[in-house]
Amino acid sequence: MIIVSTLPELRRARARIIGSLGLVPTMGYLHRGHLSLLQAAREQNEHVAVSIFVNPTQFGADEDLEDYPRDIERDLAALEAEGVDLVWTPDNAEVYPRGYQTCVTVEQLTRGLEGARRPRHMRGVTTVVTKLLIAFTPERAYFGQKDAQQAYVVRRLVADLGLPVEVVVCPTIREPDGLALSSRNAYLNTEQRRAATVLFRALSAARAAFAKGQRDGDELRALMEDIVAAEPLAAPEYISVADLETLQELQQLPEQALASMAVRIGAAALIDNMVLGKA
Ligand code: PAJ
Repeated sequence: MIIVSTLPELRRARARIIGSLGLVPTMGYLHRGHLSLLQAAREQNEHVAVSIFVNPTQFGADEDLEDYPRDIERDLAALEAEGVDLVWTPDNAEVYPRGYQTCVTVEQLTRGLEGARRPRHMRGVTTVVTKLLIAFTPERAYFGQKDAQQAYVVRRLVADLGLPVEVVVCPTIREPDGLALSSRNAYLNTEQRRAATVLFRALSAARAAFAKGQRDGDELRALMEDIVAAEPLAAPEYISVADLETLQELQQLPEQALASMAVRIGAAALIDNMVLGKA
């Protein structure tokens, strides 16, 4: 496994890779969710690359950039065990050189959901992902359905900029009780960890109601709101039933829709989603 930190080193290592390359962008503190992306990348490509970079521009001033969990030694050991070929671990100055002032913005799709909750977050994501896609020039790049808006926004930016990469979106990996794996779950104490299942419980209830024929967006949102409200440790930031293409809130649901939410539990802002109308 080749580990590089500067951009020239990355370019040299990339140039030596012959055959298809799958890229998995991450912020580290890897868990089984990240590893599932790696496994998909390995199945579909001859080589696999990973970036580990806690991207400062996607954190708000009052967010958890300083506290974001990090364990680079453990991450590198896990990537080695997974047979990863190339890892880039840049520092901030490598990605954002002095005087940096260029951003990539996706307009409409970033307005709601995480984009509304976290000003400038999406712009930070789209900018760093564009830089990663240019630096690695992979055939395919892997993203998790866990961060559905992020994945859809990246798909949009790749189509809009005509970047020569296929965006692959992989299913959300969950704990046995339904909690979606997330590096931020490390912030939860035992009580909060128990309360954190409320996201899965509420989304599952919406999915069940949809399966029984409920197509009223307000009813589905109210159903999830009631379940979240019944959990004293949980404070919802948004609860949404939106169009899968535009991410706009829906009144009457078509064949499929995205149910999603952000819920604060202690210091952790947790997000999760389910596609309604999907087997
Ligand atoms: P990070 O939170 O480290 O996530 C890296 C990738 O893993 C993302 O595509 C995310 O959707 C996916 N992922 C996280 N939890 C998952 C789970 N439980 N199941 C399946 N996939 C999961 O997302 C980011 O980093 C950053 O925004 C990044 C894209 C790297 C840009 O900085």
